[in-house]
Amino acid sequence: MAIRTIREKGDPCLEKVSRPVTEFNARLHQLLDDMADTLAEAGGVGLAAPQVGILRRVCIVEDEQGEIIELINPEIIKTEGEQTGLEGCLSVPGKYGIVTRPMLVRVRAQDRFGTTFEVEDEELTARCFCHEIEHLDGHLYTEHCNILTDDELEQYIRENEKEFDE
Ligand code: CO
Repeated sequence: MAIRTIREKGDPCLEKVSRPVTEFNARLHQLLDDMADTLAEAGGVGLAAPQVGILRRVCIVEDEQGEIIELINPEIIKTEGEQTGLEGCLSVPGKYGIVTRPMLVRVRAQDRFGTTFEVEDEELTARCFCHEIEHLDGHLYTEHCNILTDDELEQYIRENEKEFDE
Protein backbone atom coordinates (compact mmCIF):
# COMPACT_ATOMS: atom_id res chain seq x y z
CA MET A 1 0.00 0.00 0.00
CA ALA A 2 1.20 3.46 -0.81
CA ILE A 3 -1.03 6.12 0.62
CA ARG A 4 -0.54 9.61 -0.79
CA THR A 5 -1.41 12.77 1.11
CA ILE A 6 -4.72 14.30 0.09
CA ARG A 7 -4.42 18.04 -0.51
CA GLU A 8 -7.06 20.21 1.08
CA LYS A 9 -8.97 23.27 -0.15
CA GLY A 10 -6.59 26.23 -0.26
CA ASP A 11 -3.76 24.13 -1.73
CA PRO A 12 -2.82 25.67 -5.12
CA CYS A 13 -2.79 22.20 -6.78
CA LEU A 14 -6.58 22.09 -6.47
CA GLU A 15 -6.98 25.29 -8.47
CA LYS A 16 -4.81 24.46 -11.49
CA VAL A 17 -5.69 22.97 -14.86
CA SER A 18 -4.09 19.53 -15.13
CA ARG A 19 -2.12 18.48 -18.21
CA PRO A 20 -3.07 15.54 -20.43
CA VAL A 21 -1.30 12.22 -19.92
CA THR A 22 0.87 11.32 -22.90
CA GLU A 23 2.91 8.43 -21.52
CA PHE A 24 1.10 5.32 -20.30
CA ASN A 25 4.07 4.02 -18.37
CA ALA A 26 4.94 2.41 -15.03
CA ARG A 27 4.87 5.78 -13.35
CA LEU A 28 1.23 6.29 -14.36
CA HIS A 29 0.38 2.77 -13.16
CA GLN A 30 2.02 3.49 -9.80
CA LEU A 31 0.01 6.71 -9.51
CA LEU A 32 -3.25 4.85 -10.27
CA ASP A 33 -2.44 2.08 -7.79
CA ASP A 34 -1.54 4.61 -5.10
CA MET A 35 -4.70 6.60 -5.79
CA ALA A 36 -6.81 3.44 -5.35
CA ASP A 37 -5.08 2.71 -2.03
CA THR A 38 -5.50 6.32 -0.94
CA LEU A 39 -9.19 6.31 -1.87
CA ALA A 40 -9.81 3.04 -0.01
CA GLU A 41 -8.02 4.36 3.07
CA ALA A 42 -9.98 7.63 2.97
CA GLY A 43 -13.30 5.86 2.41
CA GLY A 44 -14.46 7.92 -0.58
CA VAL A 45 -15.91 7.06 -3.99
CA GLY A 46 -13.66 9.16 -6.22
CA LEU A 47 -10.25 10.79 -6.34
CA ALA A 48 -8.49 12.99 -8.90
CA ALA A 49 -4.71 13.23 -9.37
CA PRO A 50 -4.50 16.94 -8.42
CA GLN A 51 -5.91 15.95 -5.02
CA VAL A 52 -2.65 14.08 -4.43
CA GLY A 53 -0.57 16.90 -5.91
CA ILE A 54 -0.17 15.48 -9.45
CA LEU A 55 -1.36 17.90 -12.13
CA ARG A 56 -2.27 15.27 -14.72
CA ARG A 57 -5.66 14.39 -16.21
CA VAL A 58 -6.19 11.22 -14.20
CA CYS A 59 -9.04 10.28 -11.88
CA ILE A 60 -10.63 7.19 -10.40
CA VAL A 61 -14.26 6.53 -9.56
CA GLU A 62 -15.65 3.62 -7.56
CA ASP A 63 -18.97 2.54 -9.06
CA GLU A 64 -21.94 1.17 -7.12
CA GLN A 65 -20.67 -2.39 -7.70
CA GLY A 66 -17.45 -1.42 -5.90
CA GLU A 67 -15.36 -1.52 -9.06
CA ILE A 68 -12.68 1.14 -9.59
CA ILE A 69 -12.95 2.86 -12.98
CA GLU A 70 -9.65 4.45 -14.06
CA LEU A 71 -10.14 7.50 -16.28
CA ILE A 72 -7.18 8.99 -18.13
CA ASN A 73 -7.77 12.18 -20.15
CA PRO A 74 -11.54 11.85 -19.56
CA GLU A 75 -14.19 13.90 -21.35
CA ILE A 76 -17.92 14.00 -20.73
CA ILE A 77 -19.55 13.29 -24.10
CA LYS A 78 -23.22 12.97 -23.09
CA THR A 79 -25.45 13.91 -20.18
CA GLU A 80 -29.15 13.35 -19.52
CA GLY A 81 -31.57 14.49 -16.89
CA GLU A 82 -30.87 15.98 -13.51
CA GLN A 83 -30.36 14.95 -9.90
CA THR A 84 -29.96 17.06 -6.79
CA GLY A 85 -28.22 15.67 -3.75
CA LEU A 86 -25.61 15.83 -1.07
CA GLU A 87 -22.01 16.07 -2.22
CA GLY A 88 -18.71 16.12 -0.40
CA CYS A 89 -15.02 16.01 -1.29
CA LEU A 90 -12.01 14.42 0.39
CA SER A 91 -10.24 17.77 -0.13
CA VAL A 92 -12.96 19.58 1.84
CA PRO A 93 -13.17 17.20 4.82
CA GLY A 94 -16.30 17.08 6.94
CA LYS A 95 -18.22 19.51 4.72
CA TYR A 96 -21.19 18.94 2.44
CA GLY A 97 -23.34 20.87 0.03
CA ILE A 98 -26.36 20.20 -2.15
CA VAL A 99 -25.44 20.13 -5.82
CA THR A 100 -27.49 19.54 -8.98
CA ARG A 101 -25.79 17.27 -11.56
CA PRO A 102 -26.93 15.30 -14.61
CA MET A 103 -28.68 11.99 -13.81
CA LEU A 104 -26.79 10.13 -16.53
CA VAL A 105 -23.25 10.80 -17.76
CA ARG A 106 -21.25 9.16 -20.55
CA VAL A 107 -17.47 9.57 -20.45
CA ARG A 108 -14.83 8.90 -23.08
CA ALA A 109 -11.39 8.26 -21.60
CA GLN A 110 -8.25 6.20 -21.98
CA ASP A 111 -7.34 3.27 -19.77
CA ARG A 112 -3.94 2.81 -18.11
CA PHE A 113 -2.53 1.41 -21.36
CA GLY A 114 -3.80 4.28 -23.52
CA THR A 115 -6.76 2.45 -25.08
CA THR A 116 -9.81 4.68 -25.57
CA PHE A 117 -13.09 3.46 -24.06
CA GLU A 118 -16.47 4.84 -23.10
CA VAL A 119 -18.38 4.34 -19.87
CA GLU A 120 -21.88 5.44 -18.94
CA ASP A 121 -23.51 5.45 -15.53
CA GLU A 122 -26.27 7.06 -13.51
CA GLU A 123 -27.02 8.51 -10.12
CA LEU A 124 -24.10 8.53 -7.66
CA THR A 125 -21.52 7.34 -10.21
CA ALA A 126 -22.67 9.96 -12.75
CA ARG A 127 -22.35 12.62 -10.06
CA CYS A 128 -18.90 11.34 -9.26
CA PHE A 129 -17.76 11.47 -12.92
CA CYS A 130 -18.72 15.17 -13.04
CA HIS A 131 -17.10 15.95 -9.70
CA GLU A 132 -13.78 14.22 -10.47
CA ILE A 133 -13.46 15.59 -14.01
CA GLU A 134 -14.01 19.10 -12.65
CA HIS A 135 -11.02 18.60 -10.36
CA LEU A 136 -8.88 18.24 -13.51
CA ASP A 137 -9.81 21.80 -14.47
CA GLY A 138 -9.13 23.22 -11.03
CA HIS A 139 -12.73 23.35 -9.85
CA LEU A 140 -14.29 22.21 -6.57
CA TYR A 141 -17.96 21.34 -5.99
CA THR A 142 -18.11 24.20 -3.50
CA GLU A 143 -18.35 26.55 -6.51
CA HIS A 144 -21.84 25.14 -7.15
CA CYS A 145 -23.35 25.41 -3.67
CA ASN A 146 -23.18 26.76 -0.17
CA ILE A 147 -21.52 24.57 2.44
CA LEU A 148 -24.22 23.32 4.78
CA THR A 149 -24.06 24.29 8.42
CA ASP A 150 -24.06 21.40 10.93
CA ASP A 151 -27.78 21.99 11.60
CA GLU A 152 -28.64 22.05 7.90
CA LEU A 153 -26.61 18.89 7.34
CA GLU A 154 -28.33 17.08 10.22
CA GLN A 155 -31.69 18.08 8.88
CA TYR A 156 -30.80 16.96 5.36
CA ILE A 157 -29.55 13.57 6.59
CA ARG A 158 -32.72 13.11 8.65
CA GLU A 159 -34.80 13.72 5.55
CA ASN A 160 -32.64 11.80 3.09
CA GLU A 161 -30.29 8.89 3.61
CA LYS A 162 -27.62 9.00 0.90
CA GLU A 163 -24.29 10.50 1.79
CA PHE A 164 -20.87 10.18 0.25
CA ASP A 165 -17.41 11.59 -0.16
CA GLU A 166 -15.43 11.86 -3.33
CO1 CO B 1 -13.43 16.06 -4.78
